[in-house]
Amino acid sequence: MILRPLVAALVATTVYGAAAEPLRSRDDLAGKIEKQNKISLQGVLNNIGPHGSQAPGASAGVIIASPSTENPNYFYTWTRDAALTMKMLVDEFIHGNFWLRTTIQDYIKAQAILQTVSNPSGALGSGRGLGEPKYYSNLTRFNGDWGRPQRDGPALRATALITYSRWLLSTGRKSDVTEAKEVIWPVIQNDLYYVSQYWNSTGFDLWEEVLGSSFFATAVQHRALIEGAALGKRLGIQTSPFESQTSNILCFLQAYWNGEYALSNINTQDWYNRSGIDANTVLTSIATFDPEAKCDDALFQPCSPRALASLKVYVDSFRDIYTINKDASETSPVATGRYKEDVYFEGNPWYLTTLSVAEQLYDAIQQWSTINTLTVCETSLPFWKSVYPSAKLGTYRKSQREFNKLLDAVLNYADGFVKIALKYTPSSGALAEQYSRENGTAISARDLTWSYASFITMRGARLSATSEYMQVPSWGAPSAPQIPSSCKPGSVPGVYAPALKAGAPPGSGGCTILVTFNVNASTFYGENVYLTGNTTDLGQWNPNDAVPGSANEYTAERPLWSFTVELPANSSVEYGYLRKEPDGAVLMETRNRTLEVPLCGDTIFAPNATVEDEWVGPTGTPVAKLL
Ligand SMILES: *[C@@H]1O[C@H](CO)[C@@H](O)[C@H](O)[C@H]1NC(C)=O
Ligand SMILES: *[C@@H]1O[C@H](CO)[C@@H](O)[C@H](O)[C@H]1NC(C)=O
Ligand SMILES: *[C@@H]1O[C@H](CO)[C@@H](O)[C@H](O)[C@H]1NC(C)=O
Ligand SMILES: *[C@@H]1O[C@H](CO)[C@@H](O)[C@H](O)[C@H]1NC(C)=O
Ligand SMILES: *[C@@H]1O[C@H](CO)[C@@H](O)[C@H](O)[C@H]1NC(C)=O
Ligand SMILES: *[C@@H]1O[C@H](CO)[C@@H](O)[C@H](O)[C@H]1NC(C)=O
Ligand SMILES: *[C@@H]1O[C@H](CO)[C@@H](O)[C@H](O)[C@H]1NC(C)=O
Ligand SMILES: *[C@@H]1O[C@H](CO)[C@@H](O)[C@H](O)[C@H]1NC(C)=O
Ligand SMILES: *[C@@H]1O[C@H](CO)[C@@H](O)[C@H](O)[C@H]1NC(C)=O
Repeated sequence: MILRPLVAALVATTVYGAAAEPLRSRDDLAGKIEKQNKISLQGVLNNIGPHGSQAPGASAGVIIASPSTENPNYFYTWTRDAALTMKMLVDEFIHGNFWLRTTIQDYIKAQAILQTVSNPSGALGSGRGLGEPKYYSNLTRFNGDWGRPQRDGPALRATALITYSRWLLSTGRKSDVTEAKEVIWPVIQNDLYYVSQYWNSTGFDLWEEVLGSSFFATAVQHRALIEGAALGKRLGIQTSPFESQTSNILCFLQAYWNGEYALSNINTQDWYNRSGIDANTVLTSIATFDPEAKCDDALFQPCSPRALASLKVYVDSFRDIYTINKDASETSPVATGRYKEDVYFEGNPWYLTTLSVAEQLYDAIQQWSTINTLTVCETSLPFWKSVYPSAKLGTYRKSQREFNKLLDAVLNYADGFVKIALKYTPSSGALAEQYSRENGTAISARDLTWSYASFITMRGARLSATSEYMQVPSWGAPSAPQIPSSCKPGSVPGVYAPALKAGAPPGSGGCTILVTFNVNASTFYGENVYLTGNTTDLGQWNPNDAVPGSANEYTAERPLWSFTVELPANSSVEYGYLRKEPDGAVLMETRNRTLEVPLCGDTIFAPNATVEDEWVGPTGTPVAKLL
């Protein structure tokens, strides 16, 4: 897989032509990247339990998001961030960092355990629990209010584990093949079932803010099912449930394209009022990059006209809003953030989003170099004009001078984003989450794992763009099915089981019943109703751990608060409701109730039950409006 030693790649200039910028300055950049890459890899490892110096108390294989414990508190493990980080570590492992194997194996065990931890999104029985976005670093559930579920996590975790499993199969060693088939596949299979069952349901986006359908989630779900089915076949496993949804998902993915750029979120709620221009689309192209794919619009591959058009409108959206971009010309690289309407920490550029622009472009260069051809079409022309003002419509081949000039312009442009990220990186090399829109100083969570991981993947992409080195293996995009003529909704009922050989606790993952609790409780704006009770699922009577209710169907006629909780079949629970007042006061009901959870159904569809109640107890008083 390593076609050329790393060291050679370091000093390599572009393989396709003369550098537009003096070689010397490019080598300076390569040197700086190598230095920051080492710091970044150490930064990632510091955030992984049990030995990571910045992750005290984290269980083995747990990747925390950041060591920051306040303002913001990121000392949790997010399924998405951890999976993207693990994918990077697996790619590094495959390229010779074999000492990472223990970390990979620890991660697999931690994920097998987490799959069985019932949580506010649900449990393993119905698969719903797999959509939980984050957990405590000691592998326990987090009960606080959060944007849940998030449906990209299982797909990304599957992708990381599939990449590792393919390597195991490639060694041909019996123990490696057994590890892939018996230890890891059951973890992957739960995640693939989750995707097949829930890809067509709404969830929160990768920024955990928007409930709807996320471009990133749909794209990574498609990828996971394609490569998951291919791996399953090699292992002799029945993969038709996964294959049955790939065309549906690919068809749905096209719905995000608005003719100009890919919208980051669709199927959103009424309040959503954003342009939809978001780093989501750039991160999608790099998360689904396949070095053997063509510049395929259907898959939004990095070099596809649609992905380039999306990248351009995304980059442009930050030109006028950040003070640190004020001296940039209309076509120069700039600092970029999540999306221009962002107000989190007052809305700043992020290291990982700025670096992702460079990574998409390096990936694109690798693709053009591989297919030896590049087409400038109406869709991509605005992008090309911004990196190479004299660009014209046409198809260029590797043998033509123009081809080399165009690629060189892209390389320079991409390097510009890396230089911006480096310019605002403190001399220690520490990468926080954000850097100030005003002056570039680091802001928000320190030592963000995803920031470090994004630096490492960017560096691999740059090496791959400028040498024969290939950081990321193909996931089979060229053999993905075509877009069907009409889009269909879809869902396959999953069959979920604890991955015992990977380390899931024996006896975990038992049959569960989806119980809907409906309670009539008249409330005023700012007063909320919660469900609590004597089990962990219900927060053990602790108001802080109580289950938040939904007032989506609350009307004047029916003051309905609803809760959907997955409870162990054939169990008995004591429960009740409570109100939280705007000032934080808690009002408990004056009676406790008991529920006998039904027996496990004998179909594979998760059975469910509904309970109807009426609030019994004190009610709050709205605070008089001050004039
Ligand atoms: C896990 O960590 C959380 C947060 O620090 C803590 O509240 C909880 O008690 C821990 N649980 C266990 C079983 O250690
Ligand atoms: C489900 O799929 C259909 C067909 O592609 C699509 O129209 C619909 O918006 C999807 N809904 C969600 C929530 O994914
Ligand atoms: C959304 O925001 C735009 C620009 O701020 C505004 O013109 C438009 O009226 C808003 N639409 C809704 C539905 O609020
Ligand atoms: C940089 O800007 C941030 C706001 O984005 C501000 O809090 C901070 O004090 C500024 N630092 C310096 C050194 O000016
Ligand atoms: C249900 O639980 C009761 C009491 O724990 C037990 O005796 C019974 O066998 C269980 N029934 C089933 C079908 O598991
Ligand atoms: C909760 O209460 C029910 C009914 O009193 C009881 O049967 C059950 O054992 C309790 N569960 C726990 C975890 O205490
Ligand atoms: C309900 O049960 C909890 C836990 O045992 C107890 O603290 C509370 O006082 C009970 N409430 C009523 C109204 O009995
Ligand atoms: C419960 O099951 C019924 C019948 O299968 C279904 O229509 C309903 O949507 C389910 N409710 C929930 C909350 O899943
Ligand atoms: C809840 O309110 C609805 C509408 O007023 C009523 O039909 C229903 O019986 C109430 N439920 C209970 C348990 O009181």
